[in-house]
Amino acid sequence: MFKDSFKYYKSRNPFPDLKNVIDIDSTDYTKVRPIEDFLLKYENRYDLGLRPTKDWKIYELKCNLGLIFIQNPFTAEGQQYWITKCLKDYPKKPNKLNLDEHKLLNDNTSWWEECFKNSDGNVSLLTKLRWTTLGYHHDWNTKHYSENSKSILPSELCNLTTFLANVLNYTGFNAEAIIINYYRMNSTLAGHTDHSEVNIEAPLFSISFGQNAIFLIGGLTQEEPATPIYLRSGDIVVMSKTSRHCYHGIPKILPTLVKPWMSNDSMQNKLHSEVDSEDWSIASNYISEARININVRQVLKPGQIRLL
Ligand code: SIN
Repeated sequence: MFKDSFKYYKSRNPFPDLKNVIDIDSTDYTKVRPIEDFLLKYENRYDLGLRPTKDWKIYELKCNLGLIFIQNPFTAEGQQYWITKCLKDYPKKPNKLNLDEHKLLNDNTSWWEECFKNSDGNVSLLTKLRWTTLGYHHDWNTKHYSENSKSILPSELCNLTTFLANVLNYTGFNAEAIIINYYRMNSTLAGHTDHSEVNIEAPLFSISFGQNAIFLIGGLTQEEPATPIYLRSGDIVVMSKTSRHCYHGIPKILPTLVKPWMSNDSMQNKLHSEVDSEDWSIASNYISEARININVRQVLKPGQIRLL
């Protein structure tokens, strides 16, 4: 049962045995199958922080139809770019933050400025950021989206997911709602399904940066068993087909030994907008004890232009 697995992997004492956690790094082909069909025909998108697609490794989980795993397709510089964007630019008005409800920020200051640019940097605020929503804002109470509650999506995030969708042959994907989740080392995300979108047939893209996580993917009901998978910095999970409707959650964050955002990449610097070294020094400090997940959804059905 999903809840039992969640409880097992969440436990700190006793610490769970991780031998059944699927580790794509050790490619256990009994549980995943590689997908190689379509990788060669795409141009290099260094501007999106990506390696050439010919070098990507893509797998499908055998026990969850449509659960696709792209093993870190990002360059180290690409990871730095996206991590810094998620901390400096995205948790800013008019996007919504969990901190809004408690009025923990002044209207004229951003989370980044308040935490890192004030002389007496606000440490308690730093650890309190849990989510920010962009595009159609997910209402956590009603679990609905509304035409009256949306902000403009950053074009670079739309371009990234459009490119990912094209590579995977999903036609017509439009990023319309984005949730960025921020995890501290003791954070968890309880099991849930994502069903607020009018269009739950479109794939959902889930991109991880920073510390490792155990991702649990179950079945259509809580009664079905769940499969644990390691997620590392840069990994992308795509939930499509049946898996789009399945229970999933994050029972544990684990410290990463390898830091893919630091590796000595020989890629040429082709990101349009380079990361300022002072900003990156702040962001790399933050990510040493945190995980970020960018969760991108399509809300509307093909041809639909607004919510009713
Ligand atoms: C989610 O399911 O909303 C987030 C999953 C993750 O953090 O990887």
